Parts: sequence; structure tokens; C-alpha cells
Amino acid sequence: MAETSPALPRHIGIIMDGNGRWARQRGLRRSAGHRAGIQAIRRVMEAADTAGVHCLTLYAFSTENWSRPRQEVATLMRLFEQTMQAEVDELHRNGVRIRVIGRRQQLSKRLQKLVGDAERRTEANLTGVLNVAINYGGRAEIVDGVRQLAASGADLSQLEEADLAGALYTAGLPDPDLIIRTAGEMRTSNFLIWQAAYAELYVTQTLWPDFDAADLRAALADYSARVRRFGGVPKPR
Ligand code: IPE
Ligand code: IPE
Ligand code: MG
Repeated sequence: MAETSPALPRHIGIIMDGNGRWARQRGLRRSAGHRAGIQAIRRVMEAADTAGVHCLTLYAFSTENWSRPRQEVATLMRLFEQTMQAEVDELHRNGVRIRVIGRRQQLSKRLQKLVGDAERRTEANLTGVLNVAINYGGRAEIVDGVRQLAASGADLSQLEEADLAGALYTAGLPDPDLIIRTAGEMRTSNFLIWQAAYAELYVTQTLWPDFDAADLRAALADYSARVRRFGGVPKPR
């Protein structure tokens, strides 16, 4: 592919990290950090829309996050249920198509129902796409994709990259151009490991509950100055 320096990412993935540290800095429980993190989601979605980015994938809960204390997992799941219920109307009004990506059989029946309803209700919306990754793991996603292809009778000895890409949870969406990680850690933690093969990475020290429109603009400005080569050579100036 040719070298490009696109002004705007078509799809942004966000690893929303640092809720626990945000709470600790304030002498609060981790659950307070998670609640504050939900507020940040609203702000950032609005800012992305204003900036002209209409496809977002938010990492909310990884397949590894089940190893957290029971109480914290329960709090997170309750927050996902409440938020799904509270936000769908407005997202729908704004023309956003909601999808939850991840292994949802392990989610509560209640959350599965809320998710299914939200997806059905918003499936024809064309203004924006919001993927929420819950019980999501990039490795699990690849395994699920291969299993799905095998079950459909595909000849796996002839498997092409496009076949597998089409069997992932993100089938039909552009790959993320930009992955933002808050709270400073420089790792992917199993997020979109296939799709982000050539994504630009942006790590900020800002903790997720503090992330706001200005932080998003800073990430976009940084992105727009990147030179993407996709393995090619830079064009002579
Ligand atoms: C991110 O914040 C939220 C989830 C992973 C669910 P953390 O809870 O990981 O916050 P830190 O990393 O402990 O600060
Ligand atoms: C990544 O954050 C997962 C989500 C943001 C949902 P973690 O806090 O789980 O990542 P590690 O454990 O620091 O790699
Ligand atoms: Mg963390």
C-alpha cells in the first residue's frame, strides 16, 4: 500500500486504562474510578464525533479481567448493564450503531439481553459505529473466527487473511488507524491484535477518567503528523 499521511483516523480503538489509579489518587474505592470512567466515555464520544471520527472501539473488559476480585468484576458488570440501559436512547437518536464485541455467553443473561436489544435497535444506523469490547480478547477472537470458518465447512488449508478478517467480530469495519492507551502502559493487553497490525499507537499518561476532548484532540494532532508506510519506503521529498 502507498505511503499515506491521512489527516483523520477512520476508526479509533481506545484502551481505557487507569480507573483504579485515578481512584487511589483520591483515596476512593476502585469502583468510584470505574464510575468516573463511564463519564469519560460520554465526553470522548462527543469529542470524536465533533472531530469527524465516527467509528470507535472501546476496550471495557478483557478476557483476563475476570481474574480481578469478585466484587470489582460485579461492579463493572453492573455498570455495563446500567450504562447500556441509560445510553441507548441517545445513541440511537444520534444515529450510532452499537455493537458489543467479545464472548458474550459469559455475560449475565440481563446484560446479554440489553446488548442484543441495543444491537437490534440500532443496527440500521449509519452515522456512527460504537463497538464496546466486553469479555473481549484478541486471541479469543481469532480462535472464534477460525472455529466459525471451520464450522461453516471452509477449507482451512486454503485460508487467506481476508477470510479470517471477515470472520472476526469487526468484520466489515475498517481496521483501526489509531489505538489510544491511557494511563501510560505501553502494551496492547490483547486488544485488537489482528486489526491493529498497522495501527498508529498513542500512549498518554492521562488516566482514563481524566481523558477529555482536549486529550482526544492531542491524540489526533499527533496522529496527523505520523507517516504511515505499511512496510514501504518513504517518498523522496
Ligand atoms: C481500566 O482501569 C478499566 C478496566 C480494565 C476494566 P483499571 O481498573 O485497569 O485501572 P488501573 O490500571 O488499575 O489503574
Ligand atoms: C486493559 O487494561 C483492559 C481494559 C482496558 C479493559 P488492564 O488494566 O486489564 O491491562 P493490564 O493488566 O495492565 O495489561
Ligand atoms: Mg489497568
